Formats: sequence, C-alpha cells, structure tokens
Amino acid sequence: MNQADFDFIASLLKQTSGLVLTPEKAYLLESRLMPVARKFGFDDLDNLVGSIRSQPSNKKLVDEITDAMTTNESLFFRDTKPFEQLKTVVIPMLLKARSATKTIRIWSAASSSGQEPYSIAMLLNDMKVQLAGWTIKIMATDISNEMLTRAKAGTYTQFEVQRGLPIATLVKYFKQEGESWILDQSIRSMVDYRHFNLLDDPRPLGQFDIVFCRNVLIYFDQQTKAEVLARMTQVMANDGVLFLGAAETVLGITDKFVPLQGHRGMYEVAQSGASQRRTA
Ligand SMILES: C[S@@+](CC[C@H](N)C(=O)[O-])C[C@H]1O[C@@H](n2cnc3c(N)ncnc32)[C@H](O)[C@@H]1O
Repeated sequence: MNQADFDFIASLLKQTSGLVLTPEKAYLLESRLMPVARKFGFDDLDNLVGSIRSQPSNKKLVDEITDAMTTNESLFFRDTKPFEQLKTVVIPMLLKARSATKTIRIWSAASSSGQEPYSIAMLLNDMKVQLAGWTIKIMATDISNEMLTRAKAGTYTQFEVQRGLPIATLVKYFKQEGESWILDQSIRSMVDYRHFNLLDDPRPLGQFDIVFCRNVLIYFDQQTKAEVLARMTQVMANDGVLFLGAAETVLGITDKFVPLQGHRGMYEVAQSGASQRRTA
C-alpha cells in the first residue's frame, strides 16, 4: 500500500474509532483488510482503498474496515487481580453504599468477545447468597459488530476456555459441544450487549457504579484517552469505581479520575473540594 493510501486509512480509523495506526502497524493492513476487500468484491487493497476514497460515505464499508482493524484479544478473568478487587473490595463497599436501592449497574466498556462481562457475571453469580434481593445489571458494549455477535453467542474454543478460566468454573458454567464450549444461558442472560463507540456520548447508556474500561485506551492517543475518560465521569456515580487495564493509567492523562488509595488499577471520579475516599 502506498503512503497516501496508508495515511488515508490511518486518518479514517482515527476519526471513526480513535484507534491510532502507526507505521509499525502497517503490516496489519494486509492480513486484516484483505478479507474485507474480498467480501466487497475487490481483488486487492488498492481497489478497496480506491473505492473508500471515492465514496467515504459508504458507511457499511467504513464500519467493516474499522471493525477489521480493532484488536480483540481478550481472556476470562484477565489479570486476575481486578476480579479479586471487584469481589473483595468493590462489591462489599457497594453492598453498604447501595443498601437503600439494592441495585448495582456495571459497564464493560470494550467487551470484545465477552470474556470480561461474563467473568463479572460468573463472579457475581458465585456471590448470589450475599446478593440475594439485589438487582445487578451488566451492560457490555463494543464498537465491533463481529465481536458483539460472538459475545452474545457465548461459545468459546478449547484454547479460549483454557486461558484464565479455573477448571471448576469451566465445569460449573460451560457445556462442551464438539470442539466448542457453550456458556450457560443463566450467565449469558445476565449481560446486556449494545453497540457503542467510545468516541460517542455515553449518557444514553445510563448511570454506572462500576466501569471496566480495560485494554482499549492503549490504542488511543493522549487526547482521545482524556476525552473518553472525561465523558466516562458523566455516567459514573460519585462513589463509582473505574477499572483500567494493567498497562493503563489516568496519571498524566486526566485529573478527572484519581487512583483509589491502596488499590492498583482502580480509580474513582475526582471529587471537587471533598477529600478522596480511602478503602485500604
Ligand atoms: C483488546 S480488546 C479488550 C477486551 C477486554 N476489555 C479485555 O480487557 O480483555 C479491545 C476492544 O476495544 C474495542 N474498541 C476499539 N475501539 C473502540 C471504540 N472506539 N469504541 C468501543 N470499543 C472499541 C475493540 O473492538 C476490542 O474489542
């Protein structure tokens, strides 16, 4: 692909999703966009890019290109620690703080193929005695329609269930059918999937007590990260908790969130004037 076409695709991607395509990632274009080219009847990437350059309003093609360029790597209980923190710190805190409404809303903001929201759902199901009488809502969103379809299906390969899932959890919640492992409907039905672009206004999604926004900000530039985080504060309860990925932080990006003292990877909305909460 020539430089002008590369620049065009990089700028299109930035505009549609915030994803930054650096020159070192140019090698990804061939493998990720060739299937899209073939699907739309083009022989090669030059023809695909030529078509989109002459018809930038072709939403279907733009969406497919964006979808193909997303990195969807995910695994169950990724990094373990955030899920332990959810169980031992955040849920106990909300059991006290929400005792009047007995409702907790959780958002998995880049849910990919569903491992993250389903890990949350399985964990909460394991706490069902403590959560009896409570309404727990889990919303999971992603920009990729392909990933949303996969996530809703709740069907995983042997390789996927071997990554991160304790064997007891696998046996408890999955059924094997041929080469696939199918997640129990009781867990699948706990998650409400929606298409959502993190560049958009999240307020129509409602208010959340817990947000998982993990391993997606890394693909954005500093300004986009700051804007996404700023919008997130608009849909978070004052005492809500944000989980970021292991390689992500708010530090140096925004002062709208502050780290939760003593809990790496967890953040709370910065309170103007009042002192920050300490849970450690
Ligand atoms: C690497 S996966 C992370 C999945 C999961 N959160 C985890 O930590 O395992 C990143 C996901 O972010 C999604 N994504 C990328 N840009 C997005 C955007 N602008 N809005 C919403 N989702 C986006 C991708 O489609 C992909 O599924």
